[in-house]
Amino acid sequence: MAKLAINGGPAEASELKSRIPSWPKASTKAKKALLEALESGKWCRVYSGSKAEQFEKAFASYHDAKHGIAVANGTVSLELSLKTGKIGFGDEVLVPAVTFIASASAITEVGAVPRFVDIDPETAVMSPKALKDSITDMTKAVLVVHYAGYPVDFDEILPIVRRNGLFLVEDCAHAHGTEWKGRKVGAIGDMGSFSFQESKSLASGEGGIVLTDNDVLAERARLMHNIGRVVGRPGYEHFILSSNYRLSELQAALLLAKLDELPKEVEEKHVNGEYLAEKLMRIGGVEPLKRDQRITKRGYYFFVIRYDKTEFNGLPKKRFIEALNAEGVPAGSGYGMPLYKQPAFKKENLDTVIPKGVKTPDYERLSLPGAEKYIAEEVTLPHPILLSGKEGLDLVVNSIQKIKENVDELL
Ligand SMILES: Cc1ncc(COP(=O)(O)O)c(C=O)c1O
Repeated sequence: MAKLAINGGPAEASELKSRIPSWPKASTKAKKALLEALESGKWCRVYSGSKAEQFEKAFASYHDAKHGIAVANGTVSLELSLKTGKIGFGDEVLVPAVTFIASASAITEVGAVPRFVDIDPETAVMSPKALKDSITDMTKAVLVVHYAGYPVDFDEILPIVRRNGLFLVEDCAHAHGTEWKGRKVGAIGDMGSFSFQESKSLASGEGGIVLTDNDVLAERARLMHNIGRVVGRPGYEHFILSSNYRLSELQAALLLAKLDELPKEVEEKHVNGEYLAEKLMRIGGVEPLKRDQRITKRGYYFFVIRYDKTEFNGLPKKRFIEALNAEGVPAGSGYGMPLYKQPAFKKENLDTVIPKGVKTPDYERLSLPGAEKYIAEEVTLPHPILLSGKEGLDLVVNSIQKIKENVDELL
């Protein structure tokens, strides 16, 4: 008789769904804050002492940064970071091959050229050696991504960036709460960019922020985010030609209320993530990302499992995920491909985007071994699963164990 749920057996993790908080969470405090903002009649941050200003201060302080500039989403926050660093026409920006498309599209949006750097398949983030090997005369900036909330190796990356006089942007869309050697990410490089889109650890539907410790960059980003106006001076005096990246007061009020919940959730996810990693390592063939003592707090967007099919009698990853889903575990496979394989990087689709006269790498012929290996093995769990308690995570572990023990049913 079939044991696996995919073959009609009972689902091991049938109770898991009810243990995972629905996401995004609308707490009573968040609802009250949103309603108050709505009724205040102040929906745009043109006033001094705005909710956006309060949120910027609070989030920057939580993330160990001197300045924060709240913006409309985590894509324009990357664009604003690059523009603030005066990255533009024809400049080359190094970006990891595995990330969400916005990390690369922000580069073309400012007229620059993305050059993909390989990742380390054990950490899912930019390989320092590959970074060193990828720098050319045209390289002006590096956009690192703390993928899944796993920070890049700053001990290796910072000296390379500084030695070569490059501008460093941290894409922290996955990394709310992540700490490197006791310091939160975001202002370790020149500028950091966060997303508050609804699936993120801190969510307001849409939203973002840039962080920096640099006073000059902060002032420039603030001017640029407000179509060249000084915030709090809502007249028609504009000091730089730019765009409108502002966050609305309604979203800022929501974020301010939800920020109170974030540190506790980050802590809980960190502790539970360690618990899950420990248990998975005992099964074999389902490794977490590499353990590293320098990561003092792990923020999460995904919990990543590196699936080795040879430990599962050759069961393809796709089938493993389907079997896991049938047991009641909401596993996925991240973004599914290295970015250079996206249709957007086909020559005919690039022609309309890249300014005339600017040369691009031949993306279609690219094959980076670390990225290819990582993508072949990547299984992802969404971060709210880490709020399902140890009992919830035991259901995940038991489901994987069950698939391993009964893998012959699937072959
Ligand atoms: C790594 C990364 N960078 C940037 C973004 C863009 O954020 P947003 O959706 O807020 O524009 C995302 C969104 O998922 C992301 O995952």
